[in-house]
Amino acid sequence: MSARKLIITLDGPAGSGKSTTAKQLAQRLGYAYLDTGAMYRAITLMVLSRNVNPSIPADVVSLLPEIKIELTYIDGIQKTILNGKDVSEDIRNIDVTNHVSAVSSIREVRQFLVKQQQAIGKPGGYVIDGRDAGTVIFPDADKKFFLTADIETRARRRQKELEANNVIVPFNKMAEEIHARDTFDEGRDESPLVKPADAMVIDNSNMTPEEQVDYIIRLIQD
Ligand code: DC
Repeated sequence: MSARKLIITLDGPAGSGKSTTAKQLAQRLGYAYLDTGAMYRAITLMVLSRNVNPSIPADVVSLLPEIKIELTYIDGIQKTILNGKDVSEDIRNIDVTNHVSAVSSIREVRQFLVKQQQAIGKPGGYVIDGRDAGTVIFPDADKKFFLTADIETRARRRQKELEANNVIVPFNKMAEEIHARDTFDEGRDESPLVKPADAMVIDNSNMTPEEQVDYIIRLIQD
């Protein structure tokens, strides 16, 4: 494999296994994993903790000057630090999950974060997961992948993730939520979720994370 450290992007809808894949891929390659969704979640956490309405863009934007997000890495795994506090767990709570789509659809929020994401990933040696990683953040990335899976598989994965945190959501409700999030992320004006034209598409409905990572590494080596 090339000695130069690459920029690898993984885009795809909610529950497509991006974060699991990106984490494992980064570990196997000795790269760091840049979870761009965590940064949108950190802003959403700040918005909610200040009782700002996430659906009023001007109010959300007015908070940006007060927001400092730092990422640290322990064994290549990202910790998300919001104004000096480690919020890596808090940003996964259900309130944040329910409001992050609204916050991430605001143009100024995206500009604020994309600039930071570009500065982080530029030296290479990053696996970057998001919705716009291969289209907006790094349109010239060395390798681009678009992960997808059928909606049932994605809903079951999300259900399991939540179950691990003692949150029980019925399957139908989960599938509806995933569908709603897809529709919102694909339909928004700012950086909608689209497959980068030059990305390799991987449908992982019937793959284990390990199989998928092996497959991606083979594709990178080719
Ligand atoms: O991957 P995730 O579920 O943590 O992402 C949270 C939200 O942030 C999701 O609604 C889509 C949005 N997002 C985005 O708009 N752009 C990114 N690069 C990453 C996430």
